[in-house]
Amino acid sequence: VLCWFYIFPVYRLPRDKDIVEEVLRQGEAWQKNQTGIDLYRKLLTDCCNPPRMFAVTKENSPLGKVLWYDGELYHSHTVNNETYSLFVAKRENAPSICAYCAVVGNGGILRRSKCGRDIDQANFIMRCNLPPLSKEYVEDVGTRTHLVTANPSIIEKRFQNLLWSRKAFVDSMKVYGSSYIYMPAFSMKPGTDPSLRTYYALADTSSNLTMLFANPEFLATVGKFWKARGVHGKRLSTGLFLVSLALGLCEEVTAYGFWPFSVGLDEQPVSHHYYDNVLPYKWFHAMPEEFVQLWHLHKSGTLRMKLGPCP
Ligand code: CDP
Repeated sequence: VLCWFYIFPVYRLPRDKDIVEEVLRQGEAWQKNQTGIDLYRKLLTDCCNPPRMFAVTKENSPLGKVLWYDGELYHSHTVNNETYSLFVAKRENAPSICAYCAVVGNGGILRRSKCGRDIDQANFIMRCNLPPLSKEYVEDVGTRTHLVTANPSIIEKRFQNLLWSRKAFVDSMKVYGSSYIYMPAFSMKPGTDPSLRTYYALADTSSNLTMLFANPEFLATVGKFWKARGVHGKRLSTGLFLVSLALGLCEEVTAYGFWPFSVGLDEQPVSHHYYDNVLPYKWFHAMPEEFVQLWHLHKSGTLRMKLGPCP
């Protein structure tokens, strides 16, 4: 969401048709593979330790600890009294192992998917970038949320950096119930202040949301994990961070709304998001490369990608 442009006709990713054909060939069949699930949990635990490292906590980031920004070279934040007091205790960190998790990407394939009921049945539901959950989308994306990410750039653009009224922001957070809100406060230096302001806006209004600051060390190690597997964007997409967390925490993972292509399975044009067609800055993420990795995991039974409509 850092840099967007609006020129839909110019947006063409290569090999859309090949991918559509491959997905259609595979069909709806999916077989869970416990060995694959165990293997990925172990790989991710060894590299990145999701349960312990995914958020900044009082345990993994004590006073005086230097947090190196993962999105920028040479910038760091040394944990001080002010920031330490905002970190959750260890026990409040991400949920312990969950049975069945849904990771909901924001892809346009969710539109008219009728997957809302399916998604809402998961034990732990993760969503990206404060997505809209208003009435018109409920049937397709569901209503429940346990963790939602918020990029500081959204706070800047959509809520005037919370420098003026905070009411619109606080009101619009109500759709996420009492979920965790996960913010990369220590990824890029300009993102720290808006993230702290978001914390205070929620705390001052006794919001039901719990703020978790993304641990930059976790984001960096997960980035390396996928780089070694052929994902070469400048930065992983938010959705892949959440899938990585889910693979480390959940017994079974289903991913919805991951389809970074301009043509759908019915060979009709599909918008980039289920709620708009604002496209990502071309070289920032490598979503098609990420998709290929997720698709391998789907085919091996390690996670399930839901790409067609739900019954
Ligand atoms: O902030 P970012 O650009 O990463 O994400 P977004 O556009 O808000 O979408 C959330 C996530 O859904 C992305 O990070 C991708 O992982 C996934 N996505 C996708 O796979 N295909 C799309 N057409 C749009 C999003």
